[in-house]
Order: sequence, then C-alpha cells, then structure tokens
Amino acid sequence: MKSEILKQLRERRDYISGQELCRHFGVSRTAVWKAIQRLEEEGYEIRAVRNKGYLLVDTCDIMTKTEIESCIRGNFGRAVEYHETIDSTNTRAKLLAEEGAAWGTLVVSDCQEAGRGRRGRAWVSPSGKNVFMSLILRPDIHPASASMLTLVVALAVYDGIKKVTGLETGIKWPNDIVSNGKKVCGILTEMSAEPEGIHYVVAGIGINVNMEEFPEEVRPTATSLFLETGKTVRRSRLIAAIMEAFEQYYEEFMSQGDLSGLISVYNNHMANMGKEVRVLESAGEYTGKALGINEKGELLVEMPGGEVRHVISGEVSVRGIYGYV
Ligand code: BTN
Repeated sequence: MKSEILKQLRERRDYISGQELCRHFGVSRTAVWKAIQRLEEEGYEIRAVRNKGYLLVDTCDIMTKTEIESCIRGNFGRAVEYHETIDSTNTRAKLLAEEGAAWGTLVVSDCQEAGRGRRGRAWVSPSGKNVFMSLILRPDIHPASASMLTLVVALAVYDGIKKVTGLETGIKWPNDIVSNGKKVCGILTEMSAEPEGIHYVVAGIGINVNMEEFPEEVRPTATSLFLETGKTVRRSRLIAAIMEAFEQYYEEFMSQGDLSGLISVYNNHMANMGKEVRVLESAGEYTGKALGINEKGELLVEMPGGEVRHVISGEVSVRGIYGYV
C-alpha cells in the first residue's frame, strides 16, 4: 500500500485528504498515517496540514522498491526486486527466472559488485549514481529471434531517456545508447532456451545516469546523462519511463514476430545511419556505409562496389572509421 499511496500523492501534486486515501484503499486512518510515516522514514518529505491532508514535497533521487513501484504504470516492472548491492542484476534475474519468476519481474540494484558487460567485460557499477536493472521476459518466439529483443530494449531506453531528460541520444547498432560519440547505456541480453523454445530471456540494462567522472580506462568512450545535460536525473522515473516504452515496443515486436514494424523508428534513432563503419569480424575487417537495419535486426552495410552485406549482431563489432561511433 505504501507505493500506492506514494503514487496517489505524486499524481495529485496537491493536498490529498486522509479521508480520501482511507476511502480509496479501504483502510483505517491509522493505516494511512502509518504508511505516511514509513514513507517519511524512507526519506520522503510529506507535509501534513489539518483539514487539507497530505502533500508530497518534491523529492530528489530516492531509489527504493517503494519509489520504483510507485512510478511504474504498466506490466513491466510491476514486481520489483530491489537491492542496495548485488553481484550482478543479470545473474540474480536468471536465478529468479529459473525459480519461476513471472515475465515482467524487474531486478534493480543501486550498485553491482560484479557488473557484467558484453564479451566478458566488466561494467562499472558504483553506488548512488546509475541504473542497473534486469528484466525477465518469457517470449513465445523461436530462440533464433531472441537477439532482436536487444534492439527493442534499445528503443525503449532511447525513449525513456528522451522523456525524462529531453536528451536526444542515438542508438549505435545493435544496442549501445550514445551521446556525442560516447556510450551512456549498454544492454546485455541473456537467454535460456532449448531448440524448440525459450525458457526465459533476461535483458540487462546499465545506464550511466548521474556519474560525474569515469575510471581512466573507459573515460574516452563513456559519458553520463548528467554530463550530457548538466542535470541530476531521478533514476526511478527513468526506470519507469523505460518500462512503459518497452511495453509498447515489445507488443509491436511480438505481434509481428520480427522488427518489421520498428525498422523506421530504429533507423531514425540510429547514430551510425548513413555513416562509414568498420565491421570487425573474426576473419578480418571491412569498411562500408551503414544503411540501417532490416526486419531481422541485421545491419545492412553497402560496400564500395555496391554489394550490400548483412551484418549479424553478436558475431561482430562495428565502429566508426574515426572512433567508437
Ligand atoms: C555492454 O557491455 O554494453 C553491456 C552492459 C550491460 C550492463 C548491465 S548493468 C545491469 C545488468 N547486470 C549486469 O551484470 N550487466 C547488465
């Protein structure tokens, strides 16, 4: 009930009477008062005025299960497992999924002790600054189609960032979110499947939100929303905005079974669209012009002679000819 009361207070943006809250939730005045007290203990400033009721005073970047759940509107992230610290939200989400957790369950942690990136790299995961979250999905699609989900997640992150900060980022194919040529978000999708079907997919999202400084090794290629906008971002709002956007894109993806309904929106946001890119494969590398994605999420690269190659994510790295993007 705590997060529901918080949701009501936030949406009202004005005083809401204790009586109204009692009626809405079908509970006693004492129960409402106790929930308000617990919210105050969690750091919320709530003004209580006789004959007017309760008012939520603008809060800063609070990250708790109550806060996140109170911001969530749709089906994704309705159940949140929140940690102050954890090894990796992806590892935890995989364990929960093995134990039967429902699709839409979201694992969030304030920091990670062993945050994992792609290609076995570590993901910088300090406390109090960033978003580390993993969403459990159980899509009824062929396992070969699962890699497309990463592009769907990237679209949702793009929208969430735009909605909450106004910042227009770009998607570096297949799924890095970049701003001014530097990375603000990485996505690590992991799957458990058998040849005929998927048990679960875990979509892990790491966003550099309020970080002001980066370790030397990632400084040339990493940035944060704070560094890009000069403003501190409320992480719970960002999480909720991404979940809301994801729900729409996911529905579109599932209705088609591929990315055909999302090609134009993805290509519009693609940072390396129309640019010369270097494709690094295990067999060697080549350079060509990025033409956008097709319905399978493959990157179409036009070679100097006019031939168009289909680049499959997971097997290659794509770089700009002068740098990361
Ligand atoms: C990348 O290398 O670009 C992917 C980075 C993914 C990091 C996120 S943070 C939340 C989730 N938990 C992890 O251990 N990794 C992902």
